[in-house]
Amino acid sequence: MIRIEQLAYVVAASTDIESWRRFAEDVVGLCARDAPDGGLYLKLDERRYRLLIVRGERNHYVASGWQLADEAAFTAAARVLEEKGVPFAYGAAQLCAQRGVQALLLLQDPAGNCHELFWGHAADFGRFVSPAGVPAFVTGSLGVGHTVLPAPNFDACWTFYRDVLGFGLADFYRHRYTQDPQEPLKRIYFTHCANARHHSLALYEGEVPSGCVHLMLELTSMDEVGRAYDRMLRHGARLMATLGRHVNDQVISFYVATPSDFALEIGYGGALIDWERHSVFEAEAVSQWGHDFSVGFGASA
Ligand SMILES: [Fe+2]
Repeated sequence: MIRIEQLAYVVAASTDIESWRRFAEDVVGLCARDAPDGGLYLKLDERRYRLLIVRGERNHYVASGWQLADEAAFTAAARVLEEKGVPFAYGAAQLCAQRGVQALLLLQDPAGNCHELFWGHAADFGRFVSPAGVPAFVTGSLGVGHTVLPAPNFDACWTFYRDVLGFGLADFYRHRYTQDPQEPLKRIYFTHCANARHHSLALYEGEVPSGCVHLMLELTSMDEVGRAYDRMLRHGARLMATLGRHVNDQVISFYVATPSDFALEIGYGGALIDWERHSVFEAEAVSQWGHDFSVGFGASA
């Protein structure tokens, strides 16, 4: 079994890198600097970057970067992929240099979502200095946050994540997104890797044109969420869901559209889970209060 330590980074593409720079600096408060090939490294902790924005023909989510503990874990992961017949490729030296890792395994899930497994991330240990005055993001061993990916062929995807990549189910939710009682319930599975963050990956049973439902970044206080909300309004960024509190990971958050056409959840207060004492449950609501998704997502998510 592959043991993933954390969601270490995310790669997204945009036709308009400068709008990402402004969004990252002015709304989210990230530290932006130029990356090779005209992209952007977005720094939010001691690492060189946590978000990498690359130039693209269209706006979309590119890949999720998953951290393995060391070279032995990396070699073991490659062996598991071979044994299970999962196609993969090794990242070329130039790609590893851009990602800032020692070695990369590139693969796709059954829905075509791209994943990168690596070991040995680069950390410049430069202090995170936010242009918006954000003191810190909650990262470290918990990873950058969580990502929610489309999985229309849900059963094949979940089998892959559980049996190949080693994710565990935290809880799940089933929902109809229209008033039609004949519409099949669509599932969202919230899944964790080898850290205490409630979920690093959630799977949504549906299609998403940008390749991602949302990415979540976590701030260190409720006031910082409020300040981010103010910056969103000042910047004219598009609200995708109103402020609310999730029932499962306990995060209080709002959602804003990114220049890569997926949403960014900016939140605070994520629960830390002791997986030895956790029981899986079916949540019959997504939020305790708030989170009106109709303002941005409409009927799509
Ligand atoms: Fe989320």
